[in-house]
Amino acid sequence: MDKKINLSKQVTVLGLGAMGTALAEAFIKAGYTTTVWNRSADKTVPLVKKGAVATSTVSEAVSASELTVICVLNYDVLEQILKPVAGELRGHTLVSLTNDTPKRARQMALWAEEQGIDYLDGSVLVPVTEVGKPEALLLYSGPRNIFDKYFPVLKALGGKSTYLGEAPGRAALYDIAMMNIFFTSLTGVLHSYALLNAEGEQAEEFLPYAREIFGVAEHFLENFALSADKAHYPGHLDNITMEAAGVKHVVEAGRDAGIHTGVPQAVKDVFDRAIEAGFGASGMPSAIEGIRKAVRAETR
Ligand SMILES: NC(=O)c1ccc[n+]([C@@H]2O[C@H](COP(=O)([O-])OP(=O)(O)OC[C@H]3O[C@@H](n4cnc5c(N)ncnc54)[C@H](OP(=O)(O)O)[C@@H]3O)[C@@H](O)[C@H]2O)c1
Repeated sequence: MDKKINLSKQVTVLGLGAMGTALAEAFIKAGYTTTVWNRSADKTVPLVKKGAVATSTVSEAVSASELTVICVLNYDVLEQILKPVAGELRGHTLVSLTNDTPKRARQMALWAEEQGIDYLDGSVLVPVTEVGKPEALLLYSGPRNIFDKYFPVLKALGGKSTYLGEAPGRAALYDIAMMNIFFTSLTGVLHSYALLNAEGEQAEEFLPYAREIFGVAEHFLENFALSADKAHYPGHLDNITMEAAGVKHVVEAGRDAGIHTGVPQAVKDVFDRAIEAGFGASGMPSAIEGIRKAVRAETR
């Protein structure tokens, strides 16, 4: 059999945690000969039962396929695993679906280029149970020709496999921005639930009202984006001084109920910084002026 054609039908997955296992399963399900490696070899066993080929070394694993996908804890781990096999990866394609910062993604892209490795940086934006489904969102950035070449293979991981452009850190940046919205807004939800519970209420009974306010918040996304990009914060309908007074009530209600108030206090700190910077009569998006510059506590 022609070796090149054979290799192009093979995929290697390095890292078989919860996510790496889901990625390998999606490739197997899509009919790819899937070579797998993991530090703890026991995690290869269920995949081998499903048809994967396990190797005992990283070197064997990356040599088995034109395309290697790596999904491990972070880029420190990724570098530990990959740097010793740079020679075997030369001329192959590497896709990282490991979460880290845009800076680490850019550094990795530079390293890969120096080693003669085609590299795409990516992020999985769905939980493991959604991997491989048509609605699963994965983001990629890096050379367009590499994405186009491997798109038919990568789309086995999710129907919404999206290319964000050549800048290698862009997928990681969008991933971080989305995760930030997820973590910070949902921690606000948890704070409200804790407040309700502390006052003897059931969070479940409050659910329709939580949904209501999430709907209202969604409505603000576009206007806030325009305000952020243009640094324009009209304050004729509401202003941040009034909003800061409202957040102060959230802090005080939490204190009265005997719960931790760090979440609304962090919001109040940012609002106060914007007011101190002269935006007291501007609208709530001017809070971004309290965020833009790392000063005070962060630099002290
Ligand atoms: N799980 C999710 O829902 C989800 C969703 C989106 C994105 N992600 C991203 O996917 C990536 C992997 O997440 P996960 O859920 O699969 O994590 P996980 O279940 O904790 O697995 C971590 C993986 O990293 C490996 N690893 C950790 N330290 C290592 C070391 N020092 N040397 C070699 N291998 C090491 C582990 O190997 P061992 O098995 O030997 O420990 C395992 O393969 C992360 O970047 C995460 O942010 C996860």
